[in-house]
Amino acid sequence: MLKKAVEEILVRQIEREAYSSNLYLSMASWAETNGFGGVSEWMYAQAEEEKVHMLKFMKYVNERGGVAVIPAVAQPPADFKGVQDIFELTLEHEEFVSESINEIVGVCLDEKDFTTHNWIQWFVTEQIEEEATVRSIIDKLKLLDGHNLYMFDSDVSKMRGVIPASQQ
Ligand code: FEO
Repeated sequence: MLKKAVEEILVRQIEREAYSSNLYLSMASWAETNGFGGVSEWMYAQAEEEKVHMLKFMKYVNERGGVAVIPAVAQPPADFKGVQDIFELTLEHEEFVSESINEIVGVCLDEKDFTTHNWIQWFVTEQIEEEATVRSIIDKLKLLDGHNLYMFDSDVSKMRGVIPASQQ
């Protein structure tokens, strides 16, 4: 049985993963309608991953005797300045998610819930990988300095982190 504080912070994360998925869908839509098919593909795939994350939280909460409440989700931004803006916002958002995951780790330790502490480690590792992937894309964009975005767009769909076996 989950302790209340652990359940609450896991349910909060369901909303954050749902928002992440919608944020990346919004970016996918912007990219698709602004000539960046590759970026759009990347964002659609990222949105799917976030949905998988959300489902992992839901299933874990329910399995452990809690109730995975489906949240209202805020509308994400719909307009972006460009491709670099999109990936910088993505990094900023992933850093926020990493902080959320760290807060869950903290609550698990406070509540001595070592089972959930063990379970959440997958997300700790996942966040390291997600941040690193987005940073490497931003580095590439900085090198290009606004040039050759056509090539970047056709290459970006290959620049995805290794998908963990549990998600394949
Ligand atoms: Fe589910 Fe990108 O964090």
